[in-house]
Amino acid sequence: MPDAQTSIEQACTTESLLGRSVVLVGYGNQGRAHALNLRDSGVVVKIAGRTASTARARAESDGFQTKDTAQAVPGADLVIVALPDEVHAEVWESAIEPHVKRGQTIGFIHGSSVHFGLVRIPDGIGAILVAPKGPGSTLRERFIQGQGIPALLAVAQERDPGTGGPTSHELARSWAAGLGCARAAVVRTTFGDEAETDLFGEQAVLCGGMMGLAQAAYETLVEAGYPPLLAYMECVHEIKQVADLLYARGPAGMRAAISNTAEFGAYSAAPRMVDDATKTAMRTLLKEIKDGTFTRTMQADHDAGAPWFRAQRAIAKAHPMEQSSADVRALMPWLAAEATGGTTPSVDTRANEQGKHTQQ
Ligand SMILES: NC(=O)c1ccc[n+]([C@@H]2O[C@H](COP(=O)([O-])OP(=O)(O)OC[C@H]3O[C@@H](n4cnc5c(N)ncnc54)[C@H](OP(=O)(O)O)[C@@H]3O)[C@@H](O)[C@H]2O)c1
Repeated sequence: MPDAQTSIEQACTTESLLGRSVVLVGYGNQGRAHALNLRDSGVVVKIAGRTASTARARAESDGFQTKDTAQAVPGADLVIVALPDEVHAEVWESAIEPHVKRGQTIGFIHGSSVHFGLVRIPDGIGAILVAPKGPGSTLRERFIQGQGIPALLAVAQERDPGTGGPTSHELARSWAAGLGCARAAVVRTTFGDEAETDLFGEQAVLCGGMMGLAQAAYETLVEAGYPPLLAYMECVHEIKQVADLLYARGPAGMRAAISNTAEFGAYSAAPRMVDDATKTAMRTLLKEIKDGTFTRTMQADHDAGAPWFRAQRAIAKAHPMEQSSADVRALMPWLAAEATGGTTPSVDTRANEQGKHTQQ
C-alpha cells in the first residue's frame, strides 16, 4: 500500500463475530445494508431503535428481531451505531451509555461524533469504526453480486479484555468481512482521518461540488432557452455514465472511453471552471471541517429543530430540475427499483436473498 499513514487489513474473516451478540442501532441507509450483509455472512444481528420507529417495522418485515435500544445494549458484544450523526449524542446519552459496561465494544460507521467529542466513550469500552466507502444501497448491491466496496477501519480505543473473547480490533475486522468489504479492501486509518476526509469529499465533490456544478449548468442551458429535458439529460443524468467509467477504469481509462471532442473540451474547460478561487474555497471548507466548525454548526442547527437544514431541503426540492428529473426517469421505469435500493437480481443473487430469512 500506499503510504505511511494507512495499511491494508489482511485476511479479515467473520470468525470473531460468529456466535457473538451484535446489535445494530438504526435500520436506515447503512443500518439495513449492514444487517442484511452480516446476516447473509452468518452473523446473528438484532436491530434496536426507538419505540415508535418506522425503521424497526421495516427490520421486522425483513425478518429481524427488534428491541428498544436501552434493552438491546446490555450483554451485546458489539453495538453498532447506525444512526444519523446529529442524533448520536442524544441516543448515546439517553439509551446506550447508561447500559453499556466495560468489555463491550461500540461501533461507528462514520467517525465525526467521536472525533469531534460529541460522544465520549468511557475507558474499558471499545470504540471502533468500519466506514464503507459508498452508500448503503451500493454496499448491499455489491455484496449480492459477490463483490464488495472498500471500507476504512479504525480503533479509537480497545475494550477491557477482562471478559475474554476477541479484541475490539478483531471485532472490527470481522464486521468489515461480514459486510463483504474485505472482498475489496479494508484500509486501516484513524477516526480523525476518516471523519475529516469523508466530510471534505462529500462537501467539495460528491454531494456539494458536483451537485452545485450540475445545477448551475442545468440553469445555464434552461436560461439560454434549451429544453429542460435536454438540460437535465446532459448535465445531470449522464453523470452516472461518466462516473461508472471513472469507477471501473480510473481517470485515464475514462478519458480513453469518451470522444476526443469531449476530452479536448474537458482540458480547456476544467481550469476555467475550477480555478484558484475554487481551491481557496476548498481549503476553507477543509479548515472548517478540521477545526470542528462544520460539526458544531450542524449540531446546533439540529438541536434548534433543524430550521436551516429543513429550509435548504425545501428549496432544493422545489427546484425545477426535480421535474426534469422525474420526466427523464419516467423514460426508464426500471430506475424506480434502483431508487428504493432494490435491484434486478441475477439468478444466484435471488438464491442468496431467499436464504437470508433462514439465517436469523
Ligand atoms: N447514508 C449512507 O449511505 C452513509 C454512507 C457512509 C456512512 N454513513 C454513516 O452511517 C451512519 C448512519 O447514516 P444513515 O444515512 O444510514 O442514517 P439514516 O438512514 O438517516 O438512519 C435512519 C435510522 O436512524 C433512526 N433514527 C433517526 N433519528 C433518530 C432519533 N432521533 N432517535 C433514534 N433513532 C433515530 C431511524 O429510525 P426511526 O424510524 O425511528 O426514525 C432509522 O433507524 C452515519 O454515521 C453516517 O455518517 C452513511
